[in-house]
Amino acid sequence: MKHFITTLDWSRQELQAMLDHAKELKADPFQPLLKGKSVALVFFNPSLRTRSSFDIGAHQLGGHAIVLQPGRGAWPMEFEIGSPMDGDAEEHVIEAARVLSRYCDIIAVRAFPKFENWQEDRRDKVIRAFADYATVPVINMETITHPCQEMAHMMTLQEHLGETDGKKFVLTWTYHPKPLNTAVANSGLIIAAKFGLDVTLLCPTEEYLLDERYMSAARELTEAQGRSLTVTHDIAEAYDGAHVVYAKSWGALPYFGRWDQEKEIRDQYKHFMVDSEKMAMTDDALFSHCLPVRRNVKVTDQVLDSKASVAIDEAENRLHVQKAIMAKLVG
Ligand code: CP
Repeated sequence: MKHFITTLDWSRQELQAMLDHAKELKADPFQPLLKGKSVALVFFNPSLRTRSSFDIGAHQLGGHAIVLQPGRGAWPMEFEIGSPMDGDAEEHVIEAARVLSRYCDIIAVRAFPKFENWQEDRRDKVIRAFADYATVPVINMETITHPCQEMAHMMTLQEHLGETDGKKFVLTWTYHPKPLNTAVANSGLIIAAKFGLDVTLLCPTEEYLLDERYMSAARELTEAQGRSLTVTHDIAEAYDGAHVVYAKSWGALPYFGRWDQEKEIRDQYKHFMVDSEKMAMTDDALFSHCLPVRRNVKVTDQVLDSKASVAIDEAENRLHVQKAIMAKLVG
């Protein structure tokens, strides 16, 4: 039994096979690949795309999805092992994962970091606990990475670019009034590196570098394919000749739990917003974002509504890739 928690656990060939299947499912959406199967969608955080696309995807494959929100209609859950449950939690993940495994064929989990202590958050404790105690495959619906978003992004790039090897991929940090999860940034870096793009990470300062786990994985993946991983704080250098601009905001890891101090830095970099002047420096690059996106904060209306923008295609492709992932995991 294999989980889909991070694409680092899967080879490029395995992921490509799922992307190829997703392409078939996009052309022919209704197939009984999950007939008689059930999927538990466990959400500790809000969602529009993930919740809709998993639910509808299961339905289109003849299966059934149930949404659970611990603390809001389902019991609040505990993840620490061996400690007395004398707080708010009524249910331990040990029982929750084992019981859901008796009802369902897949458990999918969304659990964002707590944003207080990165060393703690980087353990990815919630989904790892589900994986440890479930007896069915577990899918990551976004924790400290967002592998389903990665797959949708790569499917979209392949649709629009064809061959991705050797193309210049720019992951640009953008301003946001709040510190956000690094999950999509980690994922963007990994999937672009895995599929042979030359990867550039544009961020305001060294403090906005991503966790070394993902930086080193991207370095190794690019080097193994004769590609490069470049880190720059220079906007013009990053955008020059780019084929893909992927925008995301994230909080600086050294400031977890000290967000007032990080805000003083972040507020100086509002000019990282993606706009037409920056896109004009590229080689007719595609623009994308995982959504939801704050218009005219992270990206201008002109870019988001331009022909270069494939963000809606990427959101649609969430449906197709997740169906392929679910079908793969249930065999
Ligand atoms: N991109 C994404 O995961 O969207 P939701 O947060 O709406 O699910």
